[in-house]
Amino acid sequence: MSRPLVVDSVAALRAQIRDWRHDGLRVAMVPTMGALHDGHISLVKIALDRAERCVVSIFVNPTQFAPTEDLDKYPRQLARDVDRLGMARADLAFTPTVGEMYPSGFATRISVGGPSAGLEADFRPTFFDGVATVVAKLLLQATPDCAIFGEKDYQQLCVVRQLCRDLDLPVEIIGAPTIRDAHGLAMSSRNAYLDETELRIARQFNVILRDTAAALAAGAGQSHATEEASRALIAAGFQKVDYVEARESLTLAPWHRNGEGRLLAAAWLGKTRLIDNVEIPST
Ligand code: PAJ
Repeated sequence: MSRPLVVDSVAALRAQIRDWRHDGLRVAMVPTMGALHDGHISLVKIALDRAERCVVSIFVNPTQFAPTEDLDKYPRQLARDVDRLGMARADLAFTPTVGEMYPSGFATRISVGGPSAGLEADFRPTFFDGVATVVAKLLLQATPDCAIFGEKDYQQLCVVRQLCRDLDLPVEIIGAPTIRDAHGLAMSSRNAYLDETELRIARQFNVILRDTAAALAAGAGQSHATEEASRALIAAGFQKVDYVEARESLTLAPWHRNGEGRLLAAAWLGKTRLIDNVEIPST
């Protein structure tokens, strides 16, 4: 098994990337918060199809967690993550400390408009500022040719595309399909919080979303179909549904039947908040 180089300073990251560029190598980046699973590893594979070198950042970014959220209990397992990256043939793990990313006196926040309105932002109002700020930093630190983001976090992917377009960041953003378990549950580091009963309920999430997307494609009214989906989630055992909404795939504006659509949802299972989304099939 090869082992990735592990660096925790921006200076060391830049020095290595400078060497690769000197050798004419293309560099791809996969930003993560660690607790790596097959979903993350699929992004590394796409990165290595696109570039000769793959950098994976592992940083549990405090600025995207609200004070009430799971920053302290978010799973951290660096040694295991580095092993998994070795097996996936990633070249470098960038593992900065909070002090390296946000030294004392840090005072900048990037706020993206457009696709960051509504959906997640209605329930996590500071989340996308935190994501945009850390993603801008990571992309400027590594200056990769391309960066891979999962469709699992569909709104985040749209926000990152908007950020790079608006700030002229010279990085190609590549969206990657959601990796699911055999029952269709989207892989997520937060699935580790679920007990057996909750896991069985969680596996209904994608089934209900796919059924709803099919109903929308077949002509069902939007508010009727999404309300039915919320009811079905509660009947399956979810405690609370934050939203189920159909949006236009590229801009996340309200969906109109003739455009490409995405059905996005967030719901609570015990203390765990799950998100998922599916394409609305075109008819
Ligand atoms: P994290 O949740 O660790 O996810 C890192 C990347 O993996 C994201 O692009 C996410 O969409 C992708 N991903 C997660 N589960 C996936 C799955 N089942 N299939 C495919 N891709 C999946 O998202 C973040 O971290 C952070 O917000 C970050 C962008 C790193 C900024 O801190």
